[in-house]
Amino acid sequence: MIRPAAATPPANATAKHSNAVDDRPGAGGFLPAVGLLALDRQYAALREEIRAALDRVCDTGRFVLGPDVTDLENELARALGVPHAISCASGSDALLLALMSLDIQPGDEVILPSYTFFATASAVTRLGAIPIFADIDPATYLVDPADVQRKISRRTRALIPVHLFGRTADMDALLPIARDAGIPVVEDAAQAILSTWHGRCSGGLGDVGCFSFYPTKNLGGAGDGGFLTTTRDDVAQRLRLLRVHGMEPRYYHQVVGINSRLDSIQAAILRVKLPHLDAWTTARQSNAARYMELFAQYDLEGRIAVPADEPRGRHVWNQFVIRVADGQRDALRAHLTACKVGTEIYYPVPLHMQQCFAHLGWAQGDLPHTERAADETLALPIFPELEPAEQRTVVGRIAEFFRAPRTQPPVQAPAETSALPEQGPHFLRRMKAVGRADDVRC
Ligand SMILES: Cc1ncc(COP(=O)(O)O)c(C=O)c1O
Repeated sequence: MIRPAAATPPANATAKHSNAVDDRPGAGGFLPAVGLLALDRQYAALREEIRAALDRVCDTGRFVLGPDVTDLENELARALGVPHAISCASGSDALLLALMSLDIQPGDEVILPSYTFFATASAVTRLGAIPIFADIDPATYLVDPADVQRKISRRTRALIPVHLFGRTADMDALLPIARDAGIPVVEDAAQAILSTWHGRCSGGLGDVGCFSFYPTKNLGGAGDGGFLTTTRDDVAQRLRLLRVHGMEPRYYHQVVGINSRLDSIQAAILRVKLPHLDAWTTARQSNAARYMELFAQYDLEGRIAVPADEPRGRHVWNQFVIRVADGQRDALRAHLTACKVGTEIYYPVPLHMQQCFAHLGWAQGDLPHTERAADETLALPIFPELEPAEQRTVVGRIAEFFRAPRTQPPVQAPAETSALPEQGPHFLRRMKAVGRADDVRC
């Protein structure tokens, strides 16, 4: 499995991370480097609390499940406004457990997008069920309800919308489709903790919600971890059983489950971080709005597209993804890499084109919007501690690639601290670009 990137602080970083501009000749007023992530900044702010929490767990010697895990589950349930939050060992396991709890069987069909992380589909195939891939809406990268509707069959047993990049899928359209088909909805909310739809948190909209604590996520641990949410008491009970080998009471196994428990050390760290999640999310939203303002200052019309607005919910910006037109994505990424600006491609190969799923019989051209997104999208740094000067560097480097002149004055200081709109900005059109293969994925 790919591991998270080491943070890439500016080369001239001081005790607090520096946003000093590189004024060496030829540097063009840009910072010497901007990382895709800087997890060290978050840790620096919480270091003492996290160390105390680790000590507490080590002193008790209770390392698996235990009081910190129970407390974290209760705090998550409160934060998300759901009756049940059940932790497990990863977001991938959360998806597997969700489908197990819904009794998905070999040969059952499960509809999901192809434009997502691998775990969404592997949970289906590990149970012997068949992933039926649906295309995406090209403006949001989220599963297209019309294509979902087309793919419902007599064998469909579940639907997995993915709230990709931190934006909730179109649940207004998807929930009625699932209801009419009589199938449950498993929300893959791994990238979307605290995102909402008409004011309700993702994960509480369908039958089961699946979340990840992978370190790159908005609420990331110091290793793997995940959790599930549900409003259904029967499903919650089954999930709690399935994550401990179906064992209740001890050494009496009612069903065959898996071993998927959250470590107390992870729970203790996550409990330190959870109270900050809302502020971190607001910082991500502010960063997204600042990118929109910065992009608007350059004449990039027709070269790049920025994320579309969604008035129906809160986008939590796990990723800020631009679309680069005219086959320029990889070249732009290479330019940004050369300038030490971290980027990532989520995802270069759609799942229906993955080698391990070749036997399923999908072909190039089956999901055109998905395939085009895989060729054109590029994720930029969006983490909460990102500095305005770093964002100016990212956008300036992109403009430099396109030789786009600045058409508006730079963002003024108040815009860097102002309360920015909850919803992100929208379509700027398309540009071109490329980046570097940070050891990061989501
Ligand atoms: C959309 C999506 N689903 C599932 C997962 C799996 O989560 P994990 O890495 O915790 O297993 C991830 C992240 O890795 C993801 O981004």
